[in-house]
Amino acid sequence: MSTPIGLFYASTTGNTEMIAEQIAALLPEQIHLHDIAIEGVVEMAQYQYLIMGIPTWDFGELQEDWDEHWPALQALDFSGKKIALFGLGDQLGYGEWFLDAMGALNEVLQEAGGEVVVPWPVDGYRFEASKALTQDKRYFVGLALDEDGEHGLSEERIRTWMPQVLAAFEA
Ligand SMILES: Cc1cc2nc3c(=O)[nH]c(=O)nc-3n(C[C@H](O)[C@H](O)[C@H](O)COP(=O)(O)O)c2cc1C
Repeated sequence: MSTPIGLFYASTTGNTEMIAEQIAALLPEQIHLHDIAIEGVVEMAQYQYLIMGIPTWDFGELQEDWDEHWPALQALDFSGKKIALFGLGDQLGYGEWFLDAMGALNEVLQEAGGEVVVPWPVDGYRFEASKALTQDKRYFVGLALDEDGEHGLSEERIRTWMPQVLAAFEA
């Protein structure tokens, strides 16, 4: 498959950016990186396949650049598009709001007709609450990454997740 994939992310302290670059490096020809802080979200319309990376900040809130471009995001039509999400958070420090922003993003995309793919099992994570869970609460709505407490697990998680994303896009 050589259909381009748009990877959109924003990052306050660099963690999500680093992960986005790590993901893009797996398929450098196919994945096009877009920093929302610089480019906004309008280019999302160009892609059938999208990956989006979002960290949660300030007790369950959106990261600031995602927040700034949220109205523009809500105005987009995602019908016919497949989207894989990855969220960054801190289970130990912010376990009552773990990855909440990824849940908010999932809701907007679904309301706008997008198909969010590749739920990620909650097994092995320790948190009190999250708005990024599927209805049965057994999965996150996208890849869950914790660079604060589980940096050492991220690479393996990405390597497991990426083939699932490609398979879901092709399905
Ligand atoms: C002040 C502050 C508030 C945070 N709030 C949350 C939160 O509510 N939920 C969560 O899962 N992570 C929270 N985090 C953790 C960040 O999401 C995590 O550090 C992430 O890797 C930051 O990504 P970035 O460097 O791309 O901005 C918070 C971190 C800080 C410093």
